[in-house]
Amino acid sequence: MQDVVIQQIKFLLNKHNAVLLAHNYMRDEVQEIADITGDSLALSIEAAKTSADVIVFCGVHFMAESAAILSPGKKVLLPRPDAGCPMADMVTAEELELLKSAHPGVPVVTYVNSSAEVKAHSDICCTSANALKVVRSLPENELIFVPDRNLGRWVAQFVPEKKFIFWEGFCPTHERMTLAAVQQKKAEHPDALFICHPESAPKVSALADHVCSTSGMYDYCRISPAKKFIVGTEAGILYKLRLDSPDKEFVLASPALFCPNMKLTSLEDVLLSLQTLSPVITVPEDIRLKAKGALDRMLAIPRD
Ligand code: 13P
Ligand code: SF4
Repeated sequence: MQDVVIQQIKFLLNKHNAVLLAHNYMRDEVQEIADITGDSLALSIEAAKTSADVIVFCGVHFMAESAAILSPGKKVLLPRPDAGCPMADMVTAEELELLKSAHPGVPVVTYVNSSAEVKAHSDICCTSANALKVVRSLPENELIFVPDRNLGRWVAQFVPEKKFIFWEGFCPTHERMTLAAVQQKKAEHPDALFICHPESAPKVSALADHVCSTSGMYDYCRISPAKKFIVGTEAGILYKLRLDSPDKEFVLASPALFCPNMKLTSLEDVLLSLQTLSPVITVPEDIRLKAKGALDRMLAIPRD
């Protein structure tokens, strides 16, 4: 049955000149059929440069919105429009404007886990993969960082010369990874390295041997001579970690590392989306142009 669904998806992808992008947290079977999997930065770059007519975005709403912002001529489909990001919902454009008016002239760095409208009120975007570079690229010594307090504080420790005004948003999935759970896993696996995402609480990332974006984890584990890793990010990451490094062992840091939104999209949803060419994600043109400015400034920063 699943084979038939996959065949139909492939047929329709080809028929519509569509590309299937999937975030590293998607269900295993969705990652398996994706043309491209990646972290938020890699998927934004891909969305900006693809020659496909249709982008099927297997991820959450803000990711498809970024694709719509960057590729206005393309149809961007989000098979599950109810797949949101609670962190992105923690700041609105009105709230950001209030904060900006209390700090006139201070630039705003906005994590891509945010709405198009919030991006439109920002100076530059960042992802977990380039946040430090983005902050370092600013000539100003003061900045507003929204919405993720954990990513913001993680970056801030490397740039003590800069004053951060934080927004107290957070990822509920990563914050459910408690210090006690990580300590227990470390005690059970004393030979393992602990890697975690910068969306983790500061007291958790302080215990990590390496803190990086989801795709950064693949690179780190592939290159590292270590044979065992305790993984502090959403469970979907395990699929490709195990595929990339079959000789290594990966242990999830906490059973709570499960993002319900990232798990919504099934193969059947992808098929239905391609059959109906919906739901289409669009952004009003005035907002799109301003948000694109913030994303383009981020994308202009060279990658490593
Ligand atoms: P990255 O894949 O960019 O590290 O982001 C993680 C995330 O939380 C996406 O929602
Ligand atoms: Fe949002 Fe966290 Fe889920 Fe990513 S893992 S989509 S930041 S709630």
